[in-house]
Amino acid sequence: MSAVADAAAANGPLNGRLVALRRDLHRHPELSFAEVRTGDRLASELAALSPRRVERVARTGVVARIAGRDPSAPVVAIRGDIDALPIHEATGLPFASVNDGVMHACGHDVHATWAYGAAALLSAHPATGDVLVVLQPAEEVGEGASAVLESGALDDARVIFGAHVDRRFTVGQVVAQGGPLAASADTFEIELIGRGAHGARPHESADPIVCMAAIISSLQTIVARRVNPATPAVVTVGMVSAGTAPNVIPDRAVLRGTLRACDDATRDLLHAEVRAIATHVGAAHHVDVRVSSVGTGVPPVVNDARAATWAAEAATAVLGADAVVPLGTPNMAGEDFAWYQRRMPGCFLRVGARRENEAVIAAHSPQFDVAEDAILVGALVLAECARQASSALNAERR
Ligand code: NI
Repeated sequence: MSAVADAAAANGPLNGRLVALRRDLHRHPELSFAEVRTGDRLASELAALSPRRVERVARTGVVARIAGRDPSAPVVAIRGDIDALPIHEATGLPFASVNDGVMHACGHDVHATWAYGAAALLSAHPATGDVLVVLQPAEEVGEGASAVLESGALDDARVIFGAHVDRRFTVGQVVAQGGPLAASADTFEIELIGRGAHGARPHESADPIVCMAAIISSLQTIVARRVNPATPAVVTVGMVSAGTAPNVIPDRAVLRGTLRACDDATRDLLHAEVRAIATHVGAAHHVDVRVSSVGTGVPPVVNDARAATWAAEAATAVLGADAVVPLGTPNMAGEDFAWYQRRMPGCFLRVGARRENEAVIAAHSPQFDVAEDAILVGALVLAECARQASSALNAERR
């Protein structure tokens, strides 16, 4: 039998409960900061484990403190996110979403469930110190992690672990490595203020549309000519708006785009170059340009080397030596787990979620689904991450 099948056989009753919980959460998905039913359900499941404490945080989130063997030992944290996306589900699953236009298309139903599963496993076989199990709202809008941190609920945590389902990998494969894992995600806006005119008299205008086209073309040179080609970076313009009629040159245009980078220096360079190009191209076209950021953005996910070592040891202990696989290339999507890593060391894992013979379906697709064997794998690995980190941090206290 494979390590995954062994684990399922050894944890039969828990596995059944996890699959049932995941299907219930999947059937009732809720958008960011509206996870009311989800938060209530998870809070009551966690309360039934008799933790030291269950707290509601960040509006719809939950933090449970699972008792360790030594109340004075260092505290570690595990995080699962719980929100869904504004997508109309097209999986045809018997437990498909009943909330029209809302879907768990990023697997956060699984993340919530495996975090609960880790809490159950740690209740049965405690870590050295207490473990804070965080059910975090609003990851998809990049605001939930900051809200959890602001609540103070993680103030005494020394290290944090989290994980994402990943259909590029099969069930039983886990990515647990130090360094960059996911990108920063920042939204920029460029507003162009020109001078409108009749479309037949362009010489009387300062045309913001022609200027916008020049800016969009020039922005492509940032990645091509400013960023070291060995360093991942993305500049994408995804929204443009201007004009009311084919024969009128408008006085204003607006574009919005996203910037992705895997380290702070590249992230800063992207921002500076967008501003420089927009300002100088605007000046050449006699158009006033205002560059601004939309929202706060999230930093890159960069895994701490020691936390990653504990995570890799945990995955090996649960699944065997072949389980830990390399990430390959970093994922240029954002992940607000990065905010925790600004406050404490942390490791974010990727957990394989595809059966051998299945196709790779990207997250945020209306067809997205997860092989349910991955739920118990995530729970076992995260619980073991907490035990490994807790015992190592405790040992160095003496
Ligand atoms: Ni996600």
